[in-house]
Amino acid sequence: MNRMLELRARWTLVTGASSGLGQEIARSIAREHGGNVLVVARRRERLEALCEELRSRHGVQADFIVADLSRPEDVERVFTEATREREIHGVILNAGVTYWGEALKLDWKEFQSMLDTNVTSLVRLSTLFARYFVERRVGGGLMFVSSVAGFIPVPYQAAYSGTKAFILSYGQALAQEVRREGVSVTVFAPGGISTELLDKAGLSNRFKAGDMGVMSAEECASHALRAFIHRKELYVPGLINQTLTLAARLLPRGFLAQRTAAMYRP
Ligand SMILES: NC(=O)c1ccc[n+]([C@@H]2O[C@H](COP(=O)([O-])OP(=O)(O)OC[C@H]3O[C@@H](n4cnc5c(N)ncnc54)[C@H](OP(=O)(O)O)[C@@H]3O)[C@@H](O)[C@H]2O)c1
Repeated sequence: MNRMLELRARWTLVTGASSGLGQEIARSIAREHGGNVLVVARRRERLEALCEELRSRHGVQADFIVADLSRPEDVERVFTEATREREIHGVILNAGVTYWGEALKLDWKEFQSMLDTNVTSLVRLSTLFARYFVERRVGGGLMFVSSVAGFIPVPYQAAYSGTKAFILSYGQALAQEVRREGVSVTVFAPGGISTELLDKAGLSNRFKAGDMGVMSAEECASHALRAFIHRKELYVPGLINQTLTLAARLLPRGFLAQRTAAMYRP
């Protein structure tokens, strides 16, 4: 495997790039690395505006695919369209949604949509793109966005933290299987990021940029890209988040869940 992933003048696909972390990752690929980006999300106008910005400011190629990743047919189409006219070298599976509240009040359809977006689409796209990388011997890289919530059972985000734990386990296991084929898998596990995700969930009053460990999307994106390029298998950005995940590996999970419940109780 090439030691570092080269993004310059190559295509990287980024899901969930219409806001927050994904948008800043796409910007950073273009601005700092001169890489081409293919961005994916549901909100067309945001993707169009982002592509226009990246082409005009940074002289890279930028394109978008409008897709709802909770729909299996859209997930298949993302792979087909992405690989039809270009060679993809990097894939960053970042799209995700959360639910904050009592688990018993989580609407069943909302749960299924979260599972399809956060987990099923990630497994499907990573399988398709990892095979594609292996067959083409392009030495590509994948990155999955998990969370510190993947290390800790988080009451009142019970299902969400479960999806992030899945990503952590699946990603680290997959990394071992495909590394011998020259393909890297990076699991990136940030703590709080000041984005629309916290606004939509109603959590932005509790977790603000500048509070303990909460990062801006721009700062978090620069950590994410460093980990991706260096083909790290697991990366937790920031000292506070690193300390939390270390504690999560040492302390009893019941104790952690109890302490976390106090922080998240609505
Ligand atoms: N914010 C945090 O505190 C935090 C902490 C740890 C980990 N994370 C993780 O970081 C990742 C990015 O989150 P963020 O904070 O940047 O949130 P965000 O600003 O809400 O961005 C989420 C992105 O995912 C896309 N998305 C959501 N559902 C989708 C669907 N069904 N199909 C296609 N795209 C979809 C959204 O685009 P459209 O709405 O346009 O489709 C948007 O671009 C997520 O995986 C999240 O779990 C966030």
